[in-house]
Amino acid sequence: MGTTTPTARTARRTFAMMGGSTAADCAVALGYAATRSRLVSGPAIPRFEADFAARIGVRHGVSFAAARVGFYGLLGALDVAPGDEVLIQAPTHAVVVNAIRYRGAVPVFVDCEPRTCNIDLDAAERLLGPRSRVLVVQHTFGVPADLDRALALAERHGLVVLEDCVHSLGSTFRGRPIGSFGRAAFFSSEETKTISTTQGGMVVTDDDDLAGALRRFQRRDCVWVPPAVTRRYLVKFAAYWALTQPDANRVAQFLFDRMGRRNPFPRPADDDERRGRRPPSYERRLSNAQARLGVRALRRLDANVGHRRRIAAIYADRLPLGGGLGPGDARMNPSYVRYPVVVRDRAEALAALGPHVTGDTWFDQTVQGAESVDLFGYPPWSCPCAEYLAGHLVDLPTHLRVLPRDAEYLADLVAPLVVPAEPPHD
Ligand SMILES: Cc1ncc(COP(=O)(O)O)c(C=O)c1O
Repeated sequence: MGTTTPTARTARRTFAMMGGSTAADCAVALGYAATRSRLVSGPAIPRFEADFAARIGVRHGVSFAAARVGFYGLLGALDVAPGDEVLIQAPTHAVVVNAIRYRGAVPVFVDCEPRTCNIDLDAAERLLGPRSRVLVVQHTFGVPADLDRALALAERHGLVVLEDCVHSLGSTFRGRPIGSFGRAAFFSSEETKTISTTQGGMVVTDDDDLAGALRRFQRRDCVWVPPAVTRRYLVKFAAYWALTQPDANRVAQFLFDRMGRRNPFPRPADDDERRGRRPPSYERRLSNAQARLGVRALRRLDANVGHRRRIAAIYADRLPLGGGLGPGDARMNPSYVRYPVVVRDRAEALAALGPHVTGDTWFDQTVQGAESVDLFGYPPWSCPCAEYLAGHLVDLPTHLRVLPRDAEYLADLVAPLVVPAEPPHD
């Protein structure tokens, strides 16, 4: 570890979490917003689906308005019936739990491992029962889970593995892209993920029958987002890019906070979803204009992920105790959508980072985004490690706007508060 003397400019910079969008992407987004042609449906959708599948190294990609819709579609395509059990890790996001509950299936919460924040497979095995059907393997923060063990466990017990790759576009396991291991995988291009289409989801699979069933779900059951809403996503795309410039973000964030819920932009999850209720027109497709932004972002994915890895390496090098959460071993090459750090006192760490990092912390609850975890069937105290991490994590940004000297500066702010990821034993 060295020491940095921050320039005044470094000390003034503020980062939102974001994908790797550019000014040229914003021009494309606004161009679509100003037209009627090919705004909602059009040829960029099959293109984005094909490019995405090729990137993961599988045959099929099927797009949706959000990852949660793709996951919900997958559960239907797999004939997951009411009462069937779907094993998911804590912490996870409320919308993942909702997709299971909207099908009438039962989410079974499995604790995570302290060093990776990924599913504890021994705990998963202990929780299996006669109705267990699906094992969701979430690659949290872009750190790959142990897929060798997960696939072996699933094989032994006849479970379907679905990969939650919402954080992990660009990660690899044994040199192979994450998302190509399970029966299927779902990804997100919500604005704070590795690539952004403001909101968006993609399911990938090599299974022709499953892809056929998903395609039917997409075409028959999912509605197009109305043009006016699509335009709001596109305007938000450009506004988010402009207002989160590190040198302007602090002022923008202040104004945004003042506006509160009156801000005109669509939100990633609505109040119904936060309460575990199903929102109206949940089953929705991705628009052509957003797919076009996705095609553009995928072309730059290697540079995007390469940058995130370099910034994560600076954090790991500069922080004590080997840095934040990370891969279990060399089979795993994370893409780090954010860099998770375990701290002694989150309030203190957030106060130190506050002027420099804006946005939600992942994860500050076992069911992220829930108005109350009780509404999601999470049994209190059932996942002690997840509860510990949910009380002690802060996230550092890794995206293209974060320069090496910014990373050094941010690391130095939290370094005195870093503690081991292990929950204390009494
Ligand atoms: C682990 C995880 N899975 C799934 C989702 C849902 O993704 P989407 O917003 O595209 O539905 C999220 C959202 O942040 C998430 O954190």
